[in-house]
Amino acid sequence: MSIKYYENERIFKLDTSNSTYVLAVGEGGYVLGMYYGAHVDEHDLRYLYVREGHDSTVPLSASVPDWRFSPDTMQAEYPAYGSGDYRIPALKIKNADGNTVTDLRYLRHSIYAGKPALRGMPSTKAGDGDADTLELVCRDITGAEITLYYTAYKNHPIITRRARVTNTSCEAMYLERVYSASVDFTRDEYRLLHMWGCWGREKHVERRALGHGTTSISSTRGASGHYHNPFAALLSHDCTEETGEAYGFSLVYSGNFSIDVEVDAFGLTRIMCGVDPESFEWKLEAGESFDTPEAVLVYSDCGEGGMSRALHRFWREHLLEKKWLEAPRPIVVNNWEATYFDFDADKIVSIAKEAAELGLDMLVLDDGWFGVRNSDRCSLGDWVCNEEKLPGGIGKLAERVNALGIKLGLWFEPEMASRDSDLYRAHPDWCIQTKGRDMSIARHQYVLDLSRADVRDYIFDAMSKILSNAHVEYVKWDFNRNLTEYSSELLPKDRQGEVFHRYVLGLYELLDRITSAFPDVMMEGCASGGGRYDPAMLYYFPQYWTSDDTDPVERLKIQYGTSIAYPACTMSCHVSASPNHQTGRETMLSTRGAVAAAGVFGYELDPGKMTEREREEIKAQIADYRAVRHIVMEGDLYRLLLPGTETHGGEVCAWEYVMPDRSEALFTYVCVRTMIAPVSFVRLRGLDADRVYTDVKTGRRYRGGTLMNAGLNLTGSRRDGECVVMHLKAE
Ligand code: DGJ
Repeated sequence: MSIKYYENERIFKLDTSNSTYVLAVGEGGYVLGMYYGAHVDEHDLRYLYVREGHDSTVPLSASVPDWRFSPDTMQAEYPAYGSGDYRIPALKIKNADGNTVTDLRYLRHSIYAGKPALRGMPSTKAGDGDADTLELVCRDITGAEITLYYTAYKNHPIITRRARVTNTSCEAMYLERVYSASVDFTRDEYRLLHMWGCWGREKHVERRALGHGTTSISSTRGASGHYHNPFAALLSHDCTEETGEAYGFSLVYSGNFSIDVEVDAFGLTRIMCGVDPESFEWKLEAGESFDTPEAVLVYSDCGEGGMSRALHRFWREHLLEKKWLEAPRPIVVNNWEATYFDFDADKIVSIAKEAAELGLDMLVLDDGWFGVRNSDRCSLGDWVCNEEKLPGGIGKLAERVNALGIKLGLWFEPEMASRDSDLYRAHPDWCIQTKGRDMSIARHQYVLDLSRADVRDYIFDAMSKILSNAHVEYVKWDFNRNLTEYSSELLPKDRQGEVFHRYVLGLYELLDRITSAFPDVMMEGCASGGGRYDPAMLYYFPQYWTSDDTDPVERLKIQYGTSIAYPACTMSCHVSASPNHQTGRETMLSTRGAVAAAGVFGYELDPGKMTEREREEIKAQIADYRAVRHIVMEGDLYRLLLPGTETHGGEVCAWEYVMPDRSEALFTYVCVRTMIAPVSFVRLRGLDADRVYTDVKTGRRYRGGTLMNAGLNLTGSRRDGECVVMHLKAE
């Protein structure tokens, strides 16, 4: 068992592959967080508990006789609002009397092998023998029972957590905040790492010192969003890419979230993550339960790189759909940047023909194939093929594309209705809105109310009609605006605070239905690029469109930030035309290829507009990618030189994927800004020091140890944007 209970001390000890997590039932039944970090052995860890009341409030109940004890300073395992812990709470409940006082005390627990399913939301899986679970139930005198779930994985440095609130009283109560997990650390030296951004500039990495007080990253947009990602890490003061401690917190959720950190006056750091409380209230009737999304906690004593590699492996083994990991991903050409809305069947078939000749696997037909959608002003929701553009419909187009030897993929934006659409004209009430107020519009479209079953049925039927009648093997599921004026027609007044969360639950239900009805259709997620790139979406979409910004120089930062929490096998990356449509920057085709090959490779251009030389280069890129794809998909990532690394007046970036058995590696180096004749050695990582590796292109042989200690000799002048790619194979 990876979870043990020491009855005399009332201590729970959870062990993962590299970490220990300890909690205890204290005097008075308070549940205390004692320790989280590198492995410790099993003597009584109670001495770790800090007893300092600091003249703060002390509960008078006789069961807590120690005047040095105060909820205000305790290491709370799941802090509740209103009973003397004045720091950020994980739980706030308005009870039937209208007050928000909650005081949680231990009630019972159980420990068992395996992991219980989470109803209605995606979560990570555990096979036989992979993990054990602790269920710890606390209770407030109002009858609110909180079950804390902890699952410790034996072969991963991972603990998953979530909470369930059950109303065992006879009256309704209102949940105002219910976080998935909260951890109190007895140090205040951490820095916070998180990813911020916007459209076209997703997941830039920021590290900041944590001062006293509260720091939050969150979304209230209805989606996890472009601006912050539901991931953050606490870094020890000495943490680097490969050394030091990193504690990552990832929320498996696609809606409004919040990750909050508070450093208190006495040296404790509290971090918690969950559904954003600003935009949430949930009425819990007597006898009902509410489940939070799952939080995934990862511990690394090998820096940020170790944290990322551990998370990547965990998502691959316990979140992503096996089927899509086992089959090679199609190398696609997407027509968006090739044609935008200006296409007809012959144009699409001509792109498909070129694609087939170049060796690609699939053509993805993007926006504009339905209704009268010749611009972004109309037709979302009218999922009927525009036969003026595509005579014979999607079925006929699929036949023509398939006849060329390649597959067809299709774009949808299922959660939306254009203002100018038959759907909106027929069902204006199906869009999220607040009666008597302006409906904010974005990209000429509204968001459908996915909390409604009738709306979900409509979307399911409309998509099913297309997918059942045409040989479509891939869907790009887009989402291009955020939610505003969030009310729902069908919910009563005192349940309007539930709309955002019900929207997300509705989305998951719809995705469950679609993926079960069409199990052979692979889906790529997209939200104007990486605007909803989170673990819950990856449960349905094995890959995600990383960004609309396809400029390889911009992509270095975007893909680096994405790699902090998500593996390369989820990161959809395309080679696009030069000059780039978003930035106007001109770059070499080789570098566009090398950067896109760091993820799920594809193209976003019109191959018919390429010169003969470029076409030959593309053929070679595709063949090269096929030879290394397994390393990118299954390998461990080592970020060797982070984007923005200044060297000899130039700027470089380098990374490496290494197969878990260290038999092969793919090394990529991009010289972003040129430098003249520098002496330059890049140290590789993760290889077997004693094995000899051959550079597949040149046949040159290297010792693993030499490449890791002395480095790869890249001395010499390079042009702006030039890259070096090396596929190494062990003998
Ligand atoms: C936004 C996506 O990110 C693009 O790739 C493209 O699909 C457009 N939407 C189509 O409207």
